[in-house]
Amino acid sequence: MDKITSLRMENITKTFPGMKALDNVTIEVKEGEIFALVGENGAGKTTLMNVLMGLYQSDGGCIILNGQKVCFTSPNDSFGCGIGMVHQRYMLVPNLTVKENIALGLKKAWKKVKLDMDFVVSKIEEIGEKYDLVVDPDAYIWQLSVGEQQKVELVKTLCLGAKFLILDEPTSALTPQEIDELIQLLKTMNKKLPMIFISHKLKEVKELSHKLAILRHGKIVFCGDTNDYSSSDIAALMTGREVKMPENNEEKEFGDYALELKNVNVKSIRGFLALNDLNLKVRSGEIMGLAGVSGNGQLELAQIINGLRKIDGGEILFLNEHIENTSPIDIIQKGMGYIPEDRNTEGIVPSFSIKENLILKDIENEQFSNHTIINNKAINDNAEKLREQFDIRCVNTSLSAGALSGGNIQKVILAREIARKPKFLVAVYPTRGLDMGAAQFIHSKLLEMRKNGVGILLISEELDEIMNLSDNIAVIFKGHIQKVLPAKTATRREIGMLMAGVNND
Ligand SMILES: Nc1ncnc2c1ncn2[C@@H]1O[C@H](COP(=O)(O)OP(=O)(O)OP(=O)(O)O)[C@@H](O)[C@H]1O
Ligand SMILES: [Mg+2]
Repeated sequence: MDKITSLRMENITKTFPGMKALDNVTIEVKEGEIFALVGENGAGKTTLMNVLMGLYQSDGGCIILNGQKVCFTSPNDSFGCGIGMVHQRYMLVPNLTVKENIALGLKKAWKKVKLDMDFVVSKIEEIGEKYDLVVDPDAYIWQLSVGEQQKVELVKTLCLGAKFLILDEPTSALTPQEIDELIQLLKTMNKKLPMIFISHKLKEVKELSHKLAILRHGKIVFCGDTNDYSSSDIAALMTGREVKMPENNEEKEFGDYALELKNVNVKSIRGFLALNDLNLKVRSGEIMGLAGVSGNGQLELAQIINGLRKIDGGEILFLNEHIENTSPIDIIQKGMGYIPEDRNTEGIVPSFSIKENLILKDIENEQFSNHTIINNKAINDNAEKLREQFDIRCVNTSLSAGALSGGNIQKVILAREIARKPKFLVAVYPTRGLDMGAAQFIHSKLLEMRKNGVGILLISEELDEIMNLSDNIAVIFKGHIQKVLPAKTATRREIGMLMAGVNND
């Protein structure tokens, strides 16, 4: 197939045990188009794309490519027709390098039984140059940030020769600047490739897409030309109500310092100083936003506070006790809460049930076990309460957490960490991948915790989120806090300059 001029999914139905994830869904994408698929967490977007990729078999309906009915029973079939997907949950092998991961799917790299790595590297370089997408072929996936992995996924899909691209939340882990670059890139690529683009960010949907469809509970509830609708029209069509993000505008007295980092140094896995003489203090009841371009030490900072990484110098005090190089369990027991960046590997155990994931840190708590016997009723009750409160969309809480939609996994982590009533919370990109309604709920929860005297270190790339919620904003650059600004008077420009390393003091 030379190029894909039209792709139609017709009357697609897909049922999982106990639920209809897709109900008679029809969409059509034509040459030159970017088709946006939007909808709440758990609406069925990823499932629909997994059907298109041949990862799931639909119970009814068909796929028509360039006017011909096709049948995809595995991703191999859809790749064969030129359909490539950048997945919401990356499908990369962590202990292989970038080039090895790309070689896995690249049939042309195999010369009889021998793998031609030089060919793989030249292909990566060719794509890198053509699309300005630079990745290090020799880096191991486990060494890369989530944003870098997202780029590798894109390069991989392009190396495999995709003629139609599916992008499932490709911008959720990118910095604002990277998002702008990706959007420009996708616009250029769209001249040659039609695309389906999934995102919760309506600004991107508006900027990029020609057509848009809204999924709700597995049904298409709206389909139209993007240009005919404003972002607020689309938001209203999606949620059925107006969504206004809460703001931190309540004056209050802060408590004592809850978290203090003094002259902290940490070497990164790649050898350089990831945290360089870092000093930061956060009081109880204060939200300290941490702004910075990703890769400037945010990940290492979150990890050392939670005992997941050793420091090479300096001190960390949590409620006046030294916690540097203490074990994670001790830090949890002292009252630390943590919403990690990588939700599938650090946030949940995908093969455990939802209800087990909700008490992961509290299994020794006498509410849930008396050291020998597990109290199943309490575990069930806890899960039901949190499911309702945090609107976790699932058939029941005994299902494995890995079967949840991306946004609903995030809600499980948030529910567990917030409901434990920590004394301090490190929240890394807490609303990444959440739909607008869920993000609004989480923002109001964080403000409620602040009101109750919990100190929060809010690490985010979204300046709107940081500026709306924080009392003070610390800007990190190359592992060092450049400056701490009061959020009320801070301007985007000032923060942006500091993020780029320009400090006029
Ligand atoms: N393998 C599976 N087994 C059981 N249920 C599943 C499976 N995959 C998806 N589901 C369910 O299907 C529904 C739709 O999920 P899907 O991942 O398509 O949502 P989504 O629209 O992509 O949401 P998000 O914005 O959170 O990524 C969810 O209720 C989810 O729990
Ligand atoms: Mg999804």
